[in-house]
Amino acid sequence: MQGLFFTFEGVDFCGKSTQIKRLVQRLEHQDIPVLLVREPGGTDISEAIREILLDTKNTSMHARTELLLYTAARAQIVAEKIVPALAASMVVICDRFIDSTTAYQGYGRELGLAFVQKINEFATQSLKPDATIWIDIPLDVAEARRKQFSLKKDRLEGEARSFRERVVAGYQMLADAEPDRIHIIDGNGPIEDVEERVWQVVSPLLTRWQDQ
Ligand code: TMP
Repeated sequence: MQGLFFTFEGVDFCGKSTQIKRLVQRLEHQDIPVLLVREPGGTDISEAIREILLDTKNTSMHARTELLLYTAARAQIVAEKIVPALAASMVVICDRFIDSTTAYQGYGRELGLAFVQKINEFATQSLKPDATIWIDIPLDVAEARRKQFSLKKDRLEGEARSFRERVVAGYQMLADAEPDRIHIIDGNGPIEDVEERVWQVVSPLLTRWQDQ
């Protein structure tokens, strides 16, 4: 039986890492074999690419270079980790995937959708998530959270507000285009409430998969 592939998406500080941790705990509690990975990263090669991508020193990085590096990191993790785990009937949870590239590079950097989607397909060998959870919060809430934790910004987080607004618009367009795959989860409110909303999406898919 082929595994099940979930991805999480959203702007920085939307709370996706917290939600992913909670989902993994729930699945492990049910003895479901889970592989948790993040993008960019998840393999030695992809983590090395991540360092280059997020390094604030790399102010001269061209948008096209950025696109190719994100998708290079993806090609490696798909081949090295995700495809084998799915073949071994695992549930794979990936913190960001193809939709991040469409939203950030396609819309945010305005590199053009058609090309970004083509290169995503090339990098993933056309692998698509079974379901994608987009944790949606207003940008002001995300910014307030960042300030609250007074974290240093990485290269992407240092981008202008207009860039992040285009990213959100990109996610919205993606969700409108693929409503069966991309589930919009309201990221506002207590962590437990958001966790329950995520579970309402994941649980039926999991049951259907387990009943196969
Ligand atoms: P993270 O902070 O969620 O680990 O993600 C790293 C940053 O990289 C985040 O600001 C989003 C950005 N990103 C892209 O711009 N394109 C991509 O394809 C991916 C996977 C992430």
